[in-house]
Amino acid sequence: MKGVIVAGGLGTRLRPLTFITNKHLLPVYNKPMVLYPLATLKASGIDEIMIVCGKEHAGDFMEFLGSGKEYGVTISYAQQDTNNGGIADALRYAEDFADGGDIAVVLGDNIFEDDFCEAVADFARGGMVFLKEVKDPSRFGVAVFDDTGEKIVRIEEKPKEPKSNFVQTGFYLFDKRIFSVIKELKPSHRGELEITDVVNKYIEWGELAFSHVKGFWSDAGTFDTLLRAGSWAAEQKQP
Ligand code: G1P
Repeated sequence: MKGVIVAGGLGTRLRPLTFITNKHLLPVYNKPMVLYPLATLKASGIDEIMIVCGKEHAGDFMEFLGSGKEYGVTISYAQQDTNNGGIADALRYAEDFADGGDIAVVLGDNIFEDDFCEAVADFARGGMVFLKEVKDPSRFGVAVFDDTGEKIVRIEEKPKEPKSNFVQTGFYLFDKRIFSVIKELKPSHRGELEITDVVNKYIEWGELAFSHVKGFWSDAGTFDTLLRAGSWAAEQKQP
Protein backbone atom coordinates (compact mmCIF):
# COMPACT_ATOMS: atom_id res chain seq x y z
CA MET A 1 0.00 0.00 0.00
CA LYS A 2 1.15 3.55 -0.67
CA GLY A 3 0.86 6.34 1.89
CA VAL A 4 -0.06 10.01 1.75
CA ILE A 5 0.96 12.62 4.32
CA VAL A 6 -1.44 15.55 4.30
CA ALA A 7 0.61 18.61 5.15
CA GLY A 8 -1.57 21.43 3.86
CA GLY A 9 -3.37 24.25 5.60
CA LEU A 10 -2.26 27.61 6.88
CA GLY A 11 -1.52 26.59 10.44
CA THR A 12 -3.43 29.63 11.69
CA ARG A 13 -3.68 28.22 15.20
CA LEU A 14 0.11 28.26 15.45
CA ARG A 15 0.70 31.83 14.32
CA PRO A 16 3.11 33.60 14.51
CA LEU A 17 5.29 30.45 14.23
CA THR A 18 3.67 29.52 10.93
CA PHE A 19 4.56 32.91 9.46
CA ILE A 20 8.15 31.64 9.54
CA THR A 21 7.77 28.03 8.44
CA ASN A 22 5.20 25.37 7.62
CA LYS A 23 3.38 23.90 10.63
CA HIS A 24 4.63 20.42 9.79
CA LEU A 25 8.24 21.52 9.97
CA LEU A 26 7.95 22.94 13.48
CA PRO A 27 9.80 20.98 16.16
CA VAL A 28 8.11 18.27 18.17
CA TYR A 29 10.79 17.80 20.81
CA ASN A 30 13.91 17.02 18.77
CA LYS A 31 12.70 16.79 15.19
CA PRO A 32 10.41 18.39 12.65
CA MET A 33 6.76 17.32 13.07
CA VAL A 34 6.53 15.66 9.63
CA LEU A 35 9.04 12.98 10.63
CA TYR A 36 6.49 11.51 13.06
CA PRO A 37 3.75 10.70 10.49
CA LEU A 38 6.51 9.56 8.15
CA ALA A 39 7.74 7.15 10.83
CA THR A 40 4.14 5.99 11.42
CA LEU A 41 3.78 5.06 7.75
CA LYS A 42 7.15 3.36 7.68
CA ALA A 43 6.41 1.38 10.84
CA SER A 44 3.14 0.33 9.19
CA GLY A 45 5.06 -1.23 6.31
CA ILE A 46 4.61 1.64 3.85
CA ASP A 47 7.63 3.06 2.09
CA GLU A 48 6.20 4.80 -0.99
CA ILE A 49 4.98 8.13 0.30
CA MET A 50 3.50 11.28 -1.18
CA ILE A 51 3.49 14.52 0.76
CA VAL A 52 0.74 16.91 -0.26
CA CYS A 53 1.53 20.36 1.02
CA GLY A 54 0.00 23.78 0.89
CA LYS A 55 1.73 26.68 -0.80
CA GLU A 56 3.23 28.16 2.32
CA HIS A 57 6.93 27.25 2.48
CA ALA A 58 6.32 24.17 0.30
CA GLY A 59 9.90 24.17 -1.00
CA ASP A 60 11.23 23.67 2.53
CA PHE A 61 9.78 20.14 2.59
CA MET A 62 11.79 19.07 -0.45
CA GLU A 63 14.88 20.71 0.86
CA PHE A 64 14.52 18.89 4.15
CA LEU A 65 13.33 15.42 3.08
CA GLY A 66 14.63 15.17 -0.49
CA SER A 67 13.99 11.79 -2.08
CA GLY A 68 13.43 10.19 1.32
CA LYS A 69 16.53 8.01 0.95
CA GLU A 70 17.92 9.07 4.29
CA TYR A 71 14.71 7.86 5.94
CA GLY A 72 14.45 4.58 4.05
CA VAL A 73 11.42 5.66 2.01
CA THR A 74 10.66 7.10 -1.42
CA ILE A 75 8.96 10.47 -1.29
CA SER A 76 7.10 12.36 -3.97
CA TYR A 77 5.48 15.74 -3.55
CA ALA A 78 2.35 17.52 -4.67
CA GLN A 79 1.42 21.11 -4.01
CA GLN A 80 -2.19 22.13 -3.41
CA ASP A 81 -3.39 25.05 -5.51
CA THR A 82 -5.22 26.52 -2.55
CA ASN A 83 -4.04 26.94 1.01
CA ASN A 84 -7.33 26.14 2.65
CA GLY A 85 -9.07 23.52 0.50
CA GLY A 86 -9.21 20.96 3.31
CA ILE A 87 -7.91 17.44 3.82
CA ALA A 88 -10.09 15.81 1.17
CA ASP A 89 -9.01 18.46 -1.35
CA ALA A 90 -5.37 17.63 -0.60
CA LEU A 91 -6.05 13.95 -1.28
CA ARG A 92 -7.29 14.72 -4.81
CA TYR A 93 -3.66 15.34 -5.73
CA ALA A 94 -2.70 11.77 -4.84
CA GLU A 95 -4.92 10.05 -7.41
CA ASP A 96 -2.22 9.37 -10.00
CA PHE A 97 0.23 8.44 -7.26
CA ALA A 98 -2.23 5.86 -5.87
CA ASP A 99 -2.46 4.37 -9.35
CA GLY A 100 -5.68 2.46 -8.70
CA GLY A 101 -4.47 0.98 -5.40
CA ASP A 102 -5.49 1.41 -1.77
CA ILE A 103 -4.00 4.27 0.23
CA ALA A 104 -3.10 4.98 3.82
CA VAL A 105 -3.61 8.61 4.78
CA VAL A 106 -1.95 10.25 7.75
CA LEU A 107 -2.39 13.86 8.77
CA GLY A 108 0.93 15.63 9.04
CA ASP A 109 0.25 16.97 12.52
CA ASN A 110 -0.75 13.64 14.07
CA ILE A 111 1.68 11.95 16.45
CA PHE A 112 1.07 8.25 17.08
CA GLU A 113 2.79 5.78 19.36
CA ASP A 114 1.06 2.85 17.60
CA ASP A 115 1.80 1.56 14.16
CA PHE A 116 -0.91 0.23 11.84
CA CYS A 117 0.96 -2.73 10.42
CA GLU A 118 -1.79 -5.26 11.00
CA ALA A 119 -4.62 -3.12 9.65
CA VAL A 120 -2.60 -2.27 6.54
CA ALA A 121 -1.72 -5.93 5.93
CA ASP A 122 -5.33 -7.11 6.46
CA PHE A 123 -7.04 -4.30 4.51
CA ALA A 124 -9.17 -5.63 1.67
CA ARG A 125 -11.66 -2.95 0.59
CA GLY A 126 -13.78 -0.06 1.86
CA GLY A 127 -12.49 2.43 4.38
CA MET A 128 -11.11 2.22 7.89
CA VAL A 129 -10.77 4.75 10.72
CA PHE A 130 -8.91 4.53 14.01
CA LEU A 131 -10.63 5.92 17.08
CA LYS A 132 -9.37 7.29 20.34
CA GLU A 133 -11.32 8.21 23.46
CA VAL A 134 -10.64 11.83 24.42
CA LYS A 135 -11.88 14.41 26.92
CA ASP A 136 -12.36 17.18 24.35
CA PRO A 137 -14.19 15.48 21.44
CA SER A 138 -15.60 18.78 20.08
CA ARG A 139 -12.22 19.53 18.48
CA PHE A 140 -12.43 16.45 16.26
CA GLY A 141 -14.56 14.23 14.04
CA VAL A 142 -16.76 12.41 16.57
CA ALA A 143 -18.09 8.87 16.07
CA VAL A 144 -21.84 8.41 16.57
CA PHE A 145 -22.68 4.79 17.41
CA ASP A 146 -25.90 2.79 16.99
CA ASP A 147 -27.73 1.31 20.01
CA THR A 148 -25.46 -1.72 20.13
CA GLY A 149 -22.45 0.57 20.40
CA GLU A 150 -20.68 -1.60 17.88
CA LYS A 151 -21.46 0.18 14.67
CA ILE A 152 -20.64 3.75 13.65
CA VAL A 153 -23.67 5.38 12.06
CA ARG A 154 -21.88 8.61 11.17
CA ILE A 155 -19.00 10.91 12.01
CA GLU A 156 -19.86 14.46 13.06
CA GLU A 157 -17.16 17.04 12.43
CA LYS A 158 -16.43 19.24 15.44
CA PRO A 159 -19.93 19.06 16.95
CA LYS A 160 -20.89 21.46 19.75
CA GLU A 161 -22.63 18.60 21.54
CA PRO A 162 -20.61 15.45 20.87
CA LYS A 163 -22.56 12.17 20.98
CA SER A 164 -19.56 10.14 22.15
CA ASN A 165 -16.01 10.65 23.38
CA PHE A 166 -14.57 8.58 20.54
CA VAL A 167 -12.96 10.61 17.78
CA GLN A 168 -11.38 9.72 14.48
CA THR A 169 -7.64 10.18 14.61
CA GLY A 170 -5.66 11.29 11.60
CA PHE A 171 -4.89 7.86 10.16
CA TYR A 172 -7.21 6.34 7.55
CA LEU A 173 -7.24 3.54 5.01
CA PHE A 174 -9.24 3.85 1.79
CA ASP A 175 -9.71 1.86 -1.36
CA LYS A 176 -9.52 3.56 -4.77
CA ARG A 177 -13.14 4.74 -4.59
CA ILE A 178 -12.02 7.60 -2.37
CA PHE A 179 -11.09 9.58 -5.48
CA SER A 180 -14.55 9.39 -7.01
CA VAL A 181 -16.09 10.26 -3.62
CA ILE A 182 -13.92 13.38 -3.38
CA LYS A 183 -15.04 14.53 -6.83
CA GLU A 184 -18.66 14.60 -5.60
CA LEU A 185 -17.95 16.48 -2.35
CA LYS A 186 -19.28 19.96 -1.64
CA PRO A 187 -17.34 22.36 0.60
CA SER A 188 -18.48 22.43 4.24
CA HIS A 189 -19.59 25.57 6.11
CA ARG A 190 -15.90 26.33 6.72
CA GLY A 191 -15.31 26.18 2.96
CA GLU A 192 -13.27 22.96 3.04
CA LEU A 193 -13.65 19.50 1.50
CA GLU A 194 -13.87 17.44 4.69
CA ILE A 195 -12.32 14.03 5.29
CA THR A 196 -15.36 13.39 7.48
CA ASP A 197 -17.66 13.60 4.44
CA VAL A 198 -15.50 10.97 2.72
CA VAL A 199 -15.74 8.68 5.74
CA ASN A 200 -19.50 9.21 5.93
CA LYS A 201 -19.85 8.04 2.34
CA TYR A 202 -18.14 4.74 3.21
CA ILE A 203 -20.47 4.44 6.22
CA GLU A 204 -23.46 4.97 3.88
CA TRP A 205 -22.17 2.09 1.75
CA GLY A 206 -21.82 -0.07 4.87
CA GLU A 207 -18.11 -0.36 4.19
CA LEU A 208 -16.40 1.42 7.03
CA ALA A 209 -14.35 -0.60 9.48
CA PHE A 210 -12.88 0.84 12.66
CA SER A 211 -10.44 -0.03 15.33
CA HIS A 212 -9.02 1.68 18.41
CA VAL A 213 -5.70 3.40 18.93
CA LYS A 214 -4.18 1.95 22.10
CA GLY A 215 -1.02 3.98 22.57
CA PHE A 216 -0.39 7.71 22.82
CA TRP A 217 -2.01 9.92 20.20
CA SER A 218 -2.17 13.66 19.83
CA ASP A 219 -2.51 16.21 17.12
CA ALA A 220 0.06 18.98 17.31
CA GLY A 221 -1.81 21.79 15.61
CA THR A 222 -2.32 24.08 18.60
CA PHE A 223 0.15 25.44 21.14
CA ASP A 224 -1.23 23.15 23.86
CA THR A 225 -1.15 19.99 21.74
CA LEU A 226 2.25 20.86 20.25
CA LEU A 227 3.57 21.05 23.81
CA ARG A 228 1.82 17.81 24.78
CA ALA A 229 3.20 15.97 21.75
CA GLY A 230 6.69 17.33 22.45
CA SER A 231 6.55 16.28 26.11
CA TRP A 232 5.50 12.78 25.13
CA ALA A 233 8.26 12.57 22.51
CA ALA A 234 10.81 13.72 25.09
CA GLU A 235 9.74 10.94 27.47
CA GLN A 236 10.23 8.37 24.69
CA LYS A 237 13.86 9.43 24.28
CA GLN A 238 13.29 9.86 20.54
CA PRO A 239 16.32 8.94 18.45
C1 G1P B 1 -9.03 16.80 11.26
C2 G1P B 1 -10.32 16.09 10.89
C3 G1P B 1 -10.98 15.52 12.16
C4 G1P B 1 -10.01 14.61 12.88
C5 G1P B 1 -8.70 15.37 13.17
C6 G1P B 1 -7.63 14.46 13.74
O1 G1P B 1 -9.31 17.95 11.99
O2 G1P B 1 -11.18 17.00 10.22
O3 G1P B 1 -12.15 14.82 11.82
O4 G1P B 1 -10.59 14.15 14.08
O5 G1P B 1 -8.17 15.96 11.98
O6 G1P B 1 -6.46 15.19 14.07
P1 G1P B 1 -8.50 19.33 11.79
O7 G1P B 1 -7.05 19.01 11.88
O8 G1P B 1 -8.88 19.86 10.46
O9 G1P B 1 -8.95 20.23 12.91
